[in-house]
Amino acid sequence: MLHKRSFFKKPRNQNQMDTISKTETAFSKDVREGLIDNPKHISSKYFYDERGSELFRQIMRMPSYYPTDLEFEIFQNQKARILKHFAEGSEAFQMIEFGAGDGLKTKILLSHFLKEKVQFSYSPIDISGSAVENLTEDLEKEFPNLILNPFIGDYFKALHEFSQKSKKRKAVLFLGSNIGNFTETQAIHFLSSLGAELNSGDKLLIGFDLKKDPNVILAAYNDPEGITREFNLNLLRRMNRELGANFDLDKFMHAPSYDPMTGETKSFIVSKEAQRVYFENLKLEVDFYPWEAIWTELSQKYDFGMIESLARESGFEVETHLNDEKAWYVDSIWRKK
Ligand code: AVJ
Repeated sequence: MLHKRSFFKKPRNQNQMDTISKTETAFSKDVREGLIDNPKHISSKYFYDERGSELFRQIMRMPSYYPTDLEFEIFQNQKARILKHFAEGSEAFQMIEFGAGDGLKTKILLSHFLKEKVQFSYSPIDISGSAVENLTEDLEKEFPNLILNPFIGDYFKALHEFSQKSKKRKAVLFLGSNIGNFTETQAIHFLSSLGAELNSGDKLLIGFDLKKDPNVILAAYNDPEGITREFNLNLLRRMNRELGANFDLDKFMHAPSYDPMTGETKSFIVSKEAQRVYFENLKLEVDFYPWEAIWTELSQKYDFGMIESLARESGFEVETHLNDEKAWYVDSIWRKK
């Protein structure tokens, strides 16, 4: 149907407008820089649009993606020891979680700490407002006695604010091997900045996925159901939608790799043929040669030596390593020096 003003773009609702204008500068800038670089790369932080976050929730439920279940097992078996490290005697503390998500694993700790009648509060932090709101609502129902201080926004801003409000000992949770998305240099920088907001004696519980049978690792990043493929190629869909690109998803494939010496697990999007992709919004043409790759994710695997050195270099002392029975995954408890 023609309309007098049909040459104007359809107005978007305000909500959509906000999300698009906020991501446009950072996302389009990073994509441009990453795709004119050689080799090509795009940061894994751009996986998590609405569909990407849903796909990651599906990944956590698949049998081949073992880290989620193992961290759950560790919490269930070692919750008493975790409490000992956090409460040191029976001191009050503030438990703070970076990237809280749905809190499924953390609930094991919350329910144990409440049962033991220790004095503590819980502060979930997430950049996603809806994640924090849903979790808070859920926790208020399940644990009416829990003292909750949620925070929506930047991790370090949150820590800074908490430090000013309370002198209690902090116990920071950084779960799920999320640290694995950082290179060693980036991880040291991140952990040192975290430490700068802590006092001596504050605790950090951090999840690391360990080096293991290379086939087990490859299977975790290349499931037969194709969910990880969807998760990786969703980046192409996002660029098509938000940057006006014309990627044909059938002409690209998902390809993970594992290097047993370094522990580097990488995900790539590989072009199956020579092709040119055009980004309408960026006025950018990107050429691919046959089998050229875009590096999209690092999921670093560690050994105990690497973890100890990471702690040392970032200004922490390792208090204990809590691992599952097979030693595939470890939650390491650190103390700020
Ligand atoms: C959420 C970053 C820990 O690297 O294992 C899962 C994301 N990527 N499958 C990981 C992911 C592919 C995950 N982290």
